[in-house]
Amino acid sequence: MKKNPSRNVHFSKGPSDLLDTINSSIDIDQRLYREDIMGSIAHAKMLGKQKIINKKEQTKLVTGLKEIQKDIEKNKVVFSKKLEDIHMNIESLLFKKIGKVAGKLHTARSRNDQVVTDLKLWIKSESKVLDNELKFFQKTLLNISKENVDTVMPGYTHLQIAQPITLAHHLLAYVEMIGRDRSRLKDCLYRLDENPLGSAALAGTSFPIDRKFTTKQLGFREPTKNAMDSVSDRDFVIEFIFVLSLIGVHLSRIAEEIVLWSSQHFDFIKLPDELSTGSSIMPQKKNPDGAELVRGKSNLIISNLMAMLNIVKNLPLSYSKDLQDDKSLIFNSYDNLILCLRVINEILYKSNFNKTKMRELVDKSNATATDFTNWLVQSLGYSFRDAYKLTGRIVLYCSKKKINIDSLSLKELQKFDIKITTSAKKVLSSVNSVNSKSSFGGTSPKNAKKIIQFAIKKYLK
Ligand code: ARG
Repeated sequence: MKKNPSRNVHFSKGPSDLLDTINSSIDIDQRLYREDIMGSIAHAKMLGKQKIINKKEQTKLVTGLKEIQKDIEKNKVVFSKKLEDIHMNIESLLFKKIGKVAGKLHTARSRNDQVVTDLKLWIKSESKVLDNELKFFQKTLLNISKENVDTVMPGYTHLQIAQPITLAHHLLAYVEMIGRDRSRLKDCLYRLDENPLGSAALAGTSFPIDRKFTTKQLGFREPTKNAMDSVSDRDFVIEFIFVLSLIGVHLSRIAEEIVLWSSQHFDFIKLPDELSTGSSIMPQKKNPDGAELVRGKSNLIISNLMAMLNIVKNLPLSYSKDLQDDKSLIFNSYDNLILCLRVINEILYKSNFNKTKMRELVDKSNATATDFTNWLVQSLGYSFRDAYKLTGRIVLYCSKKKINIDSLSLKELQKFDIKITTSAKKVLSSVNSVNSKSSFGGTSPKNAKKIIQFAIKKYLK
């Protein structure tokens, strides 16, 4: 039977099965094998350079660790639960491979600084994947926007039709959100980019280690400054899951819009069959399950964030085993988020927008009433409040007659003010309405074209 190297002779008995079950994390943290080996190699090289071990021992350790990595990647390794975690499993594999000299690797370090180093390295490397996925999603949004700078649709506040906008204007809002997500990820990476290796258990070490050397080897910006903080700090986990949560929230908002837009009530978007699901009882149904699941999964990520905050909040300094569960929360959040990003991206680029339907809806909703109000101000010198009141009376008149404001004749309009001219009729068109919103950040196609070019330069290069 495998013996856990962390159980020394001072134990008279092995752990109970129940303790093993609750204590073992190998099923989850084996995902960190690459980072663990990378950290161990840097540590072994540093021990050699500092003459804490000799060159021969250094070479043996490094070669052994590299071989273990190959073995794992060739599926030749069966990890053992008895050995608790990835750190102990690799140490035990190293003993098998190179014999007693393996026992020198753990000089001047602890699993406490080891695990936090591994996790930081993992986040750094996966963040590149995440950032690329985010970038790819922005690209999809920008491509659809490019084709729809003048596709008129209803813009909503309170889910009531407010003013005409374009589909590009709507989707470009998400480009901005994802842009902020990417910059938030970068900020979080900057703060976590300090190397905890060499903090040992909590107090540092009496061996003459060189932390700057491992920092450089592992690609961190600088070493952490307090060994106690280093091993107990999980702020970076919280921040990272927060970043993921907020991306999840943004995806959930798009998902919610896809659910609405694909319903018969809106009918703005047609999901392709490959992205719709059926009902087991209602033969006619096509459901947007993909989008609904994205909306739902963001809840899981938010819950993981709450769980992580709660794990840390009652822990005295420094390390406590509660922290071991950080990995399942991070991996679960990350995997779900990457999946959600890919699903939403696929739905958006494979769906067809029903331009006719969007235009029809905006055209029968008095959505240009504000444009008419603005015309009264700009052309007849009304104060905004007086113009707003007069337009209100016209809207009331229209609703009683069950017609739209844009179908009123000039004569009818002049009943409200004789000075109204044909140019007022023009502002009632939804196309003219969007064209007129040329203030910076507004929905006009001219603006959208500029913003798209700006976004391509800023985000896709
Ligand atoms: N598996 C542990 C974790 O993930 C590694 C650190 C163990 N440290 C200890 N003092 N028992 O947190």
